Amino acid sequence: MSRLALASLAFAAFAHAHLVAWTQGMYCKNGTDAGVDNVNNDAPVSPLYQLKYSDYWFHGVNGCNNFPPADGEFLELPAGGSFTAEIADNRAATTLSFNGAKTSDWPDGAWHPDGYSIENTADADASIVHTQNESMAAGTAFAISYTSDITQVNLNNLVVFSVRYMTPYKRVVSYDVPADMPACPEGGCTCAWMWIPNGCGLANMYMAGYKCQVTNATSTTPVATPQAPVWCEDDQSQCVQGAKEVMIWHQAEGNNVEVDGLDDSGNWRSPAYNWKMGFADGAQNDIFQNSGSQKREEAVLPSKRHTRRGHGADGKVF
Ligand SMILES: *[C@@H]1O[C@H](CO)[C@@H](O)[C@H](O)[C@H]1NC(C)=O
Ligand SMILES: *[C@@H]1O[C@H](CO)[C@@H](O)[C@H](O)[C@H]1NC(C)=O
Ligand SMILES: *[C@@H]1O[C@H](CO)[C@@H](O)[C@H](O)[C@H]1NC(C)=O
Repeated sequence: MSRLALASLAFAAFAHAHLVAWTQGMYCKNGTDAGVDNVNNDAPVSPLYQLKYSDYWFHGVNGCNNFPPADGEFLELPAGGSFTAEIADNRAATTLSFNGAKTSDWPDGAWHPDGYSIENTADADASIVHTQNESMAAGTAFAISYTSDITQVNLNNLVVFSVRYMTPYKRVVSYDVPADMPACPEGGCTCAWMWIPNGCGLANMYMAGYKCQVTNATSTTPVATPQAPVWCEDDQSQCVQGAKEVMIWHQAEGNNVEVDGLDDSGNWRSPAYNWKMGFADGAQNDIFQNSGSQKREEAVLPSKRHTRRGHGADGKVF
């Protein structure tokens, strides 16, 4: 086979790898057929591209946002601790199906060599992780909104609280929780998992919903109103400090981040949950009121931000 054919084969394989973070408390965990527990569920996994708000927000495109977890089931977030999620292309490849009998170290339940990547696919089935190698994986995030009603969650009250650089890569991922996370209201909080892959396949994004609870909370200071992050790879002093919004990118409406040109490695800039957009690895400890975000808010020109982000006069999106 020619080098070109090989390259496009690998590229095509990249493009069909779709992943989501599976946990207790997630929406759509049993699938989208009422009363059916689909152990081979991949309903929350599909990527979101050029969709309207109601279709991308909490994966409304196939109704995932209408399938909350069973009563009392939550993703638990221990303040000052960490929790794990299983990133996989199907529930079958996680411990949530078949008692974990079909899991492997990887998100597709298959065996892959160490250092698995597009540059090292010993099994030529090619990479399912959208990355050249682990160090190039874009990063993923969890965000929280202090409301139990998913229909009340919007860009202005959903705050990124945990980031893991160099994911998705292997199946099990640990996310750190800020020690100062306050407790959730009665009925819990609503969380989201977010991922924008970098330059492998279609420029799309991923979003999934969870009912979540903060355990072991000691602080009562609320999270601050988040700001849209900006590209700051070349100058970290330009990064937005404090609470940040989730990133909406390449959708038909409501996009809140923009990037142009090439990044420092010569590839097209792609917004990611990493230093390039000002996200630290691990717990986002600066997201609380009076923890630095207030000061920054004054420094951002409101008129400019609102135009760029397409906010209405009341601050709501659209
Ligand atoms: C999902 O399926 C499990 C196992 O059948 C069941 O216990 C649980 O209540 C179901 N969840 C929902 C939200 O229906
Ligand atoms: C990962 O891939 C990038 C892009 O091809 C390359 O520049 C980098 O050296 C690789 N890193 C490792 C550890 O192989
Ligand atoms: C909660 O706090 C207690 C007391 O500090 C500690 O022993 C326990 O490990 C914590 N639990 C979690 C889930 O972090």
